[in-house]
Amino acid sequence: MEIRVVGVIGAGVMGTGVAQNLAQTGHEVILIDVSEDILERAKSEIMQNLRFQSLFKKDVKAEDPNAVLERIAFTTDYRLLDKADFVVENVIEKWEVKKQVYFRIDGICPEHCVFAANTSAISITRIGSATKRPAKVIGMHFMNPVPMKKTVEVIRGWHTSEQTIAIAKKFLEQMGKDCILVNDSPGFVSNRVLMLTVNEAVFLVQDQVASAEDVDRIFKSCFGHPMGPLETADLIGLDTILYSLEVLYESFNDSKYRPCPLLKKMVDAGLHGRKSGQGFYYY
Ligand SMILES: NC(=O)c1ccc[n+]([C@@H]2O[C@H](COP(=O)([O-])OP(=O)(O)OC[C@H]3O[C@@H](n4cnc5c(N)ncnc54)[C@H](O)[C@@H]3O)[C@@H](O)[C@H]2O)c1
Repeated sequence: MEIRVVGVIGAGVMGTGVAQNLAQTGHEVILIDVSEDILERAKSEIMQNLRFQSLFKKDVKAEDPNAVLERIAFTTDYRLLDKADFVVENVIEKWEVKKQVYFRIDGICPEHCVFAANTSAISITRIGSATKRPAKVIGMHFMNPVPMKKTVEVIRGWHTSEQTIAIAKKFLEQMGKDCILVNDSPGFVSNRVLMLTVNEAVFLVQDQVASAEDVDRIFKSCFGHPMGPLETADLIGLDTILYSLEVLYESFNDSKYRPCPLLKKMVDAGLHGRKSGQGFYYY
């Protein structure tokens, strides 16, 4: 199956990166969000990233940013997905919102279209079961920032077919990515570990054991990690961290996933990390 037209739903942190990566690898992209303002912001962010790449990464054969942008249709109109061969869904980490999106696209996209869920923690089996094509639903946990991260965690849901896995691997190869295939479980491998680490790091700050800077310095200087857990949290988005912990808490019914009160307070205060200009650090 040839994958020519790709629908990307959600133009936030992840959807914007996925759309850029796809356009740079020659795909025709339909990028969907709920408002023109959000789409405008996504467009200027992609333009800025492409200009930055062409200016500073002389080793990369950079295409004219305008030619790349021309491959992306920025729209609020879901009906354009009637010609999509593949969809990558990146809306917020709320089951009620994602469920509505899958219900909607299931009725619009062609029968052959595969749905890849870019989620931090929601079960792929649960997502597949909300559609009439569960065998064609797969998890694709991209890393942030998408165009810079080579490897994707791919998740096989209960119903995901071998054919869908093969199509997904080919799709990622076309994007210039490697993948690691795992079985479905809330949070998969990466976020079942990472979300607990981040949450515990927030507890350390709340309990005044150390400042955010010192927590991060211990991971960087002592363990050699490129980023500390709280810098990582700011990069991911504190709202996304909170929603992911809530999904894990609800999925496993295990109190170890209860979100730290300080995390909840920061999200309520609008401190969502890099994307809002402030989290544990200022941007
Ligand atoms: N941020 C990360 O580092 C990261 C990494 C891997 C996976 N994820 C997952 O990717 C998904 C998106 O995360 P994000 O960080 O981009 O979030 P975000 O908040 O930056 O963006 C989400 C976007 O979805 C849009 N949206 C909401 N409802 C919609 C609808 N009905 N139709 C179309 N668009 C809609 C919002 O307007 C927003 O622009 C989440 O499920 C998250 O868990 C995030």
